[in-house]
Amino acid sequence: MERRAGITALGVYAPPTVLTNHDLEARMDTSDEWIRTRTGIRRRHVAAEDEFTSDLAFRSVEDLIRRHGEEALAGTDMVIVATNTPDALFPATAALVQHRFGLVAGAFDLMTACPGWLYALSVAKAYVESGQCRKVLTIGAEALTKLVDWDDRSTAVLFGDGAGAAIVEAVDAPYGMAPFVLGADGAGAGHLHAGAVGRCLPGGQPLGDKVFMNGREVFKFAVRVMDTATVEAIAKAGLTPDDIELFVPHQANLRIIDAARQRLGLEMDRVVVTVDEYGNNSTASIPLALAHALDAGRIADGDHLLMVSFGGGLSWAANVLTWGGSRYPLRTESGAA
Ligand code: ACO
Repeated sequence: MERRAGITALGVYAPPTVLTNHDLEARMDTSDEWIRTRTGIRRRHVAAEDEFTSDLAFRSVEDLIRRHGEEALAGTDMVIVATNTPDALFPATAALVQHRFGLVAGAFDLMTACPGWLYALSVAKAYVESGQCRKVLTIGAEALTKLVDWDDRSTAVLFGDGAGAAIVEAVDAPYGMAPFVLGADGAGAGHLHAGAVGRCLPGGQPLGDKVFMNGREVFKFAVRVMDTATVEAIAKAGLTPDDIELFVPHQANLRIIDAARQRLGLEMDRVVVTVDEYGNNSTASIPLALAHALDAGRIADGDHLLMVSFGGGLSWAANVLTWGGSRYPLRTESGAA
């Protein structure tokens, strides 16, 4: 029987501290009404001052163990942490995860803005299907609010923190991940960035330490690429939009999600929306959305899940995952709020 890589276990974490739009009204010149109508966001979860990306990643793995049992993690031979807010440039946050759970595994971080977790899944898929690895712990973890400029209302209201962890390993067909769509366009680098080591982009555009975003340009790019990447991913899976049981898009803005949904001709009951609860927590957004859908009983074995993400780079990724094939039955308890 054909084997391909699939997700066999999932865990998530969102920090308990919540900042509502009304809380933000007290901190800056904004309004609940503006944020809700422009983005769909009502609340976002925020890491504590002494809580970093590695801590969020640990919690998501603990949740994975709670849901699926220790056996789901056993035998993990690679850890990938997709993040834009690693604790440090080195060591890799993934190495901290490896050590925390006593894994005999390689470990590295992967950084490509919000699509990072989908990129990491694509790497995990390649490792598993080539025989390089047996089990890849694939994490998206983000303490983005530490990188936000709280004096810039056009970005500060958008972001939140969180983490999601998945085990990727071989499953029997028809389950597993179809080929990925992966793209990048560095010509748009200046539209969305956060600086660290370098002082400017090639060409001289200065980089600040905090998140900078040209919202309108990113919005136009996002609507365009959500359309093309999803169509391409569905074709790569040999399916049509009618075959998609659930659309699990990156949670950045409800208007962007809605535009993509309409282009695909999907009703709202086939779309997962969590942006109202979490805001945009980047690489954590799709695993958290998946966990919410699972907890709500919206995903059954054999369902085709369409995942898509976009972000800084500019970059994008999309994939159709046929859910199922796990040997670790899902328990109910969740780290999601
Ligand atoms: N509260 C109140 N008013 C605001 C706020 C705020 N928080 N932020 C901006 N405004 C004002 C602006 O100053 C502007 O006022 P003006 O007309 O007097 O100049 C007005 O609201 C409209 O601003 P726009 O930027 O045109 O608003 P828009 O409708 O485009 O929405 C938004 C802005 C929500 C940022 C939108 O452009 C967007 O969602 N873009 C995509 C963002 C995104 O998805 N980013 C992904 C990042 S992923 C990653 O890799 C990190």
